[in-house]
Amino acid sequence: MKKKNIRIFESIGALGEFSLKWLTSRIKEVPDNEFFTVALSGGTTPKQLFEYIALHGKDSINWNKILFFWVDERCVPPDSSESNYRMTRLSLLNKLNIPENHVFRMFGEVEPKEEALRYSRILLENVSLANDFPRFDLVLLGLGEDGHTASIFRGNTQLFQSRQFCEAVKHPQTSQQRITLTGNVINNASEIAFIVTGHSKTEIISNVLNKHDTVYPASLVVPVHGHLTWLLDKEAVPSKI
Ligand code: 6PG
Repeated sequence: MKKKNIRIFESIGALGEFSLKWLTSRIKEVPDNEFFTVALSGGTTPKQLFEYIALHGKDSINWNKILFFWVDERCVPPDSSESNYRMTRLSLLNKLNIPENHVFRMFGEVEPKEEALRYSRILLENVSLANDFPRFDLVLLGLGEDGHTASIFRGNTQLFQSRQFCEAVKHPQTSQQRITLTGNVINNASEIAFIVTGHSKTEIISNVLNKHDTVYPASLVVPVHGHLTWLLDKEAVPSKI
């Protein structure tokens, strides 16, 4: 088992400060004729991180160097309060001068299976390939209390064997349709960062980080060649880790 890279922060602000510093230095390394590709997750924790970065990072990063993709999307219109795209727009993108052609939205408003195919083509055209899969420079993941990540839920871990880049799935409780990157794309990334905050996540963090219980999709996030880092606030850390 690869050594776990776990960083624990006093607050989401400290986590945001670390993340911003890392991103700032990483973007400076991107060659002139290349871009940094990032796939973003939805959820309240990513939202807090985006708000921090938009507030403190506007002038420290060359935002033109970044291409924005999504890890997953709810199958709702882009102006829906449930849309990950809308959340990212409001908390991050609208506050920065991001060229429109650098934002690759998953179309939550179209037929899910068609969108999964369309988005797979978008990845093929805009993200470098490695081992036959798109290799993102960074994939940012949240962690649900039930151990899901992206929109890969318990009982759906065959999505880590899928040869597709994206698939249309259904939320097991709400039956909400979603589009998600598959496990092979997530694990192909150069950097994978889980951001997890709040006391409600201590049990799932323990099950995933201590027990490596593969019933939880998050336990199946194991980078093929890249690095996996867990960014936790102290509230989310179980007594033993
Ligand atoms: C989604 C996300 C999902 C989220 C986790 C964590 O579309 O809901 O992609 O994977 O990141 O559920 O969400 P919270 O940070 O809100 O707990």
